[in-house]
Amino acid sequence: MIIGKNYVNGKFCEHAPDFSSLNPATDEEIGFFQITEAGDVDDAVDSAHCAFDKWRELSRVQRSDYLDRLAQLMKRDHQKLLTAISQETGKTLNESHAEVIESLHMVQYAAGTGRMPYGELIASEIPHKDSYMIRKPKGVVAVISPWNFPMAIGGFWNTAPALIEGNTVVWKPSEYTPVCAQLVAELYHEAGFPPGVFNVIHGMARTGAALAYNNVNCILFTGSPQTGKMIRAHCATTWHKTCACEMGGKSAVVLFEDGNMDLAIDSCVASAYKLTGQRCVSAGRMLVHESRIAEFTDKFMNRSIDLKIGNSFVEEDVFCGPIINKKQIERVESYNEMTKDSDGVEVMLAAHRIGDQGNFITPHVYACNWDKNKKFLVEEVFGPHVAIIPFTEVDEAIHINNDTEYGLAVGFITENFKTARRCRDKMDYGLAYWNGGSIAAESHLGFGGVKKSGNGWPSAARCYQAVTDEVAFTVNHEENITFCQGMKTK
Ligand code: UN1
Repeated sequence: MIIGKNYVNGKFCEHAPDFSSLNPATDEEIGFFQITEAGDVDDAVDSAHCAFDKWRELSRVQRSDYLDRLAQLMKRDHQKLLTAISQETGKTLNESHAEVIESLHMVQYAAGTGRMPYGELIASEIPHKDSYMIRKPKGVVAVISPWNFPMAIGGFWNTAPALIEGNTVVWKPSEYTPVCAQLVAELYHEAGFPPGVFNVIHGMARTGAALAYNNVNCILFTGSPQTGKMIRAHCATTWHKTCACEMGGKSAVVLFEDGNMDLAIDSCVASAYKLTGQRCVSAGRMLVHESRIAEFTDKFMNRSIDLKIGNSFVEEDVFCGPIINKKQIERVESYNEMTKDSDGVEVMLAAHRIGDQGNFITPHVYACNWDKNKKFLVEEVFGPHVAIIPFTEVDEAIHINNDTEYGLAVGFITENFKTARRCRDKMDYGLAYWNGGSIAAESHLGFGGVKKSGNGWPSAARCYQAVTDEVAFTVNHEENITFCQGMKTK
């Protein structure tokens, strides 16, 4: 049990707690935190502004040294960090281990880029002129992040690239996972970042709103489309504020006529059920060529029935932990319910809750033809809720993949390079995996989506695009001026 604190201007702030964080496997309270109200949000943003000038004036190599120290501490605390992630999210220990590693990779990558080029030297038409494209930090970056990767996304995937580029950060973590954010703040503190460079404020949606509407220069948001849309609309009312948002998905995995069945089953099971279907990239739609559907269904159903569900602190080999909270389990159940009396839907595995402690639920699997008017086929469920959908033609599979408002991740399984190339070019996605599922992001790639799934690159290696202004810079080395394009001087 911890009493968490906001971390502002290099200090942990005393405040009476207002809300608690629960362990979703046991319903126990594991931490107490304050809800940050507008005045305290102002203080955090002010401290980030005050720290900005000095931080940006350090060399990139000096900034990378701070991140390197952070990486060493993350390695030291690996076990402690993964334990906290599993306690607060219900994620299996193995998945929490992977989250710590992907966080570490982000910090290592960002530290490495401190020693890499951060611009381009580009030829000018004028022989005595040099021209460059260089990046400048935007200023104060607001990070608003979800519970499902409670350390990786807000703590590192958004923040490490923002910091190495010379920005300062105010992070509002999810109210479901403040303990994880507290541990991250302690690591930044111990790594010795100058006061105000990295700040954490806890709270509810209104805290996030007060931060987004505050005097910040850039917002990196990962969460619901409704909130992301408000953030995007707000930025459009200002001249200077920009945002990059990742707002979920309705990912598919596609098995073509010639695809490797064993690979497809492993990919689909992981994409549907890792983190109990609560990844933004989780696949709820398995598109299967009609010639393979009987075999696929049989194998996928067997694996779904055999899934080990439980608390990975007390049982070995657990594949699925709990759903994050009561509200979310009810939401998953409401989508499961919709499938039951829907025309043309055959429910093959009906979900039910397990035990009276925690939020455990079994998978829900059904077969039906593609129909974009069925809400459960096009909306994000965030739970173990899977449709098996037949198709016959390559272009039909591409059409079904694209026929939702989202475009985050997709996997397609085929040995045919022409089919794969067509999917590469015609499918809507930010992340695609040929001969893989819809999960498997790596820190040194970009992470983000298109359409309702998002804009820009809010996370991982390409995040520098969101947190910097790229500028064209030229130098004239002569006494006189010569214009390009043959334009006369006088
Ligand atoms: C998310 O889906 O919320 O690709 C982030 C993955 C992860 C990152 C996902 N490593 O599954």
